[in-house]
Amino acid sequence: MSEPAPPHQQANSLWTSRMAFILAAVGSAVGLGNIWKFPYITGENGGGAFVLVYLACIFLIGLPVLIAETLIGRRGGQSPVATMRTLTRTEGASKGWRIIGWNGVFAASLVLSFYAVIGGWALVYVGKAAFGLFVGADAETVGAQFDTLLSNPWELLLWHTAFMVIVVFIVARGIRAGLEKAVKMLMPLLFVLLIVMVLYAMTSGSFGRAVDFMFSPDFSRLTTEGVLVALGHAAFTLSVGIGTLMAYGSYLPKHINIARTSVSIAVMDTCVALLAGLAIFPLVFANGLEADAGPGLIFVTLPLAFGQMSGGLIFGTLFFALLLVAAITSAISMLEPVVEWLEERKGTTRVKSAMTGGFAVWLVGIGTVLSFNLWSNIYPLGFIGFFEGKTVFELIDFLASNILMPLGGLAIVLFVGWAVRREGLAEDIGLQGGLFRAFMVVLKFVTPAGIAVVFLYNLI
Ligand code: PFF
Repeated sequence: MSEPAPPHQQANSLWTSRMAFILAAVGSAVGLGNIWKFPYITGENGGGAFVLVYLACIFLIGLPVLIAETLIGRRGGQSPVATMRTLTRTEGASKGWRIIGWNGVFAASLVLSFYAVIGGWALVYVGKAAFGLFVGADAETVGAQFDTLLSNPWELLLWHTAFMVIVVFIVARGIRAGLEKAVKMLMPLLFVLLIVMVLYAMTSGSFGRAVDFMFSPDFSRLTTEGVLVALGHAAFTLSVGIGTLMAYGSYLPKHINIARTSVSIAVMDTCVALLAGLAIFPLVFANGLEADAGPGLIFVTLPLAFGQMSGGLIFGTLFFALLLVAAITSAISMLEPVVEWLEERKGTTRVKSAMTGGFAVWLVGIGTVLSFNLWSNIYPLGFIGFFEGKTVFELIDFLASNILMPLGGLAIVLFVGWAVRREGLAEDIGLQGGLFRAFMVVLKFVTPAGIAVVFLYNLI
């Protein structure tokens, strides 16, 4: 007798199509990481050579975790916690692996707690751009606007709250009526906005220089640190390691080929990051600004560019709308594992679980809000040399992005590579023959080694 399908694998719970899953996963993957972080780390690390290493990392490190995590999610068909409980039993694996599920729920909440604060910045910047606050502004004014925003806890809290309310609202409506509908509407919008921005950048006069900067590798500008940044970012940008794909994978119909679908997701995510670079750098160069401006690149440097150019009001608004859409579709994927777990554990409705989970994450997010102003001089673990000078936000970011995410990713590939039974695995992943064997070698050795190197590097 065959086992009954797990809860999320019941016919009426599944994603309605392969495309719906791809849009949701790409929606999760494409976020602040692509539009905010990728351009500035490319700028800081010298351009072309960094981009090449990044591409290699996506396919050797990020993609295998993406495949493994989705596979675990679909096999378990429940929240990450219950999925790992079930799988350790059915695969005859040690109970220790269950930590993967707990890590997922915990780390996803932590990442969301600060991600929502930055999502709030995107929200407020849409308004600033639309109301013409950047028009004709000089560097000092634009910088001061950003500093003023960060220094006001109430304003930050307001936008942080607004952002969380949007996220909770979507997630509360469930997979089909909430997440699927949202991504089907928002992702095409995101692609259109991005293409419009790239077309606009093409007319700026410095497009050729931007292409050259991003695609002519100059290896003399690549440092060891650059390689490690590329590796770390490959995991972050694909949203792997913290249970979001496990949560999304739990609703993935059995007949869908995980390997092929995952490749599409990785390729799309990469294209968006590259296009974001092609939208941003021409504006930076055309206005004589610095490509290596760091985290302020899109909140300080770009508004300056928009303020100086014709059509800047419209395109500035479109740009921040793009950022906001990307942030929302990523944030909903982070709340999903938490909500699934609450639903299962408490047996409460989805709406209540979304509100409870959202509220808890919002509360933790206040720590990040305050880290930019009232608590900017408070270093809770400052007495430990390594954490000296780290604010609450920086500690949460460090714990989630540099410790829990890589360790989660490592545990996921090791679990599928070494602990899951081999029979049926090739069909479930959707690879055959030599390709499957090659994939298993990457999964067992290459990916874990890559993740371990970044992890250790980040600790020293
Ligand atoms: N991939 C998202 C980005 O690039 O912004 C960030 C992210 C989303 C990380 C979801 C982790 C996650 F679970």
